[in-house]
Amino acid sequence: MKSNVSVFPHPPHLPLIAPSLLAADFGQIGRQVNEVEKAGADLIHVDIMDGHFVPNLTMGPDMVQALRRSCRLMPDVHLMVTDPQNFIEPFLDAGAGHISFHIEAPGLARCSASDLIRRIHARGATAGVALNPSTPVAALESILSLADLVLVMSVHPGFTGQNFMPETLSKVTELHRRLSPHQRLQIDGGIGLQTAPDALRAGADVLVAGAAIFRAPDWAATIQRLRGE
Ligand code: DX5
Ligand code: ZN
Repeated sequence: MKSNVSVFPHPPHLPLIAPSLLAADFGQIGRQVNEVEKAGADLIHVDIMDGHFVPNLTMGPDMVQALRRSCRLMPDVHLMVTDPQNFIEPFLDAGAGHISFHIEAPGLARCSASDLIRRIHARGATAGVALNPSTPVAALESILSLADLVLVMSVHPGFTGQNFMPETLSKVTELHRRLSPHQRLQIDGGIGLQTAPDALRAGADVLVAGAAIFRAPDWAATIQRLRGE
């Protein structure tokens, strides 16, 4: 079943900008989320790490619930966990409008990627599949048409503020050719004013940006420039 409620307008006239909460100042998270919303963000990207799939720990469904209470930005949940099948419903219950999981997740040996997508769609949310830098597009072959979004990692997942890996752009180009106009192509990692133009030229239409926004002096101007306005 395809989702008919979309966090992502179809088709966007301009690329969507999803600031990554991981780069916010956690001591001022409520205020910063409100400010980034006012600055023109389209979504709020929420990085979920379990200390196994990636060498870092971040947050859980309670953060998504708090975001739904405190701002209008829809949480775009990026699961970097070994067992995504255990966390789909908790994040949907918390109010996630979109969930992406990694195709490399070991838990997919116990629950297929297409089942996870079906479970996300059954609750009216959109589903994304994420690819690590070294994973080829071919790994998505059987589910490419089921996903609402493909997330291409342009750094090794785990931390904000890493350098963009330009070699990942060939996957964006390939996916841009293969995805339908109703599917979104997201790029995540090291996206900033220097790297966004290449990502957009390759066909990305949802840009995740952490450090480039939250560590910039003027968030609104940065978001506009990332969009290419
Ligand atoms: C990395 C996360 C990214 C990260 C992006 O594992 O998936 O979303 O927070 O941060 P920047 O844009 O600073 O690379
Ligand atoms: Zn992310």
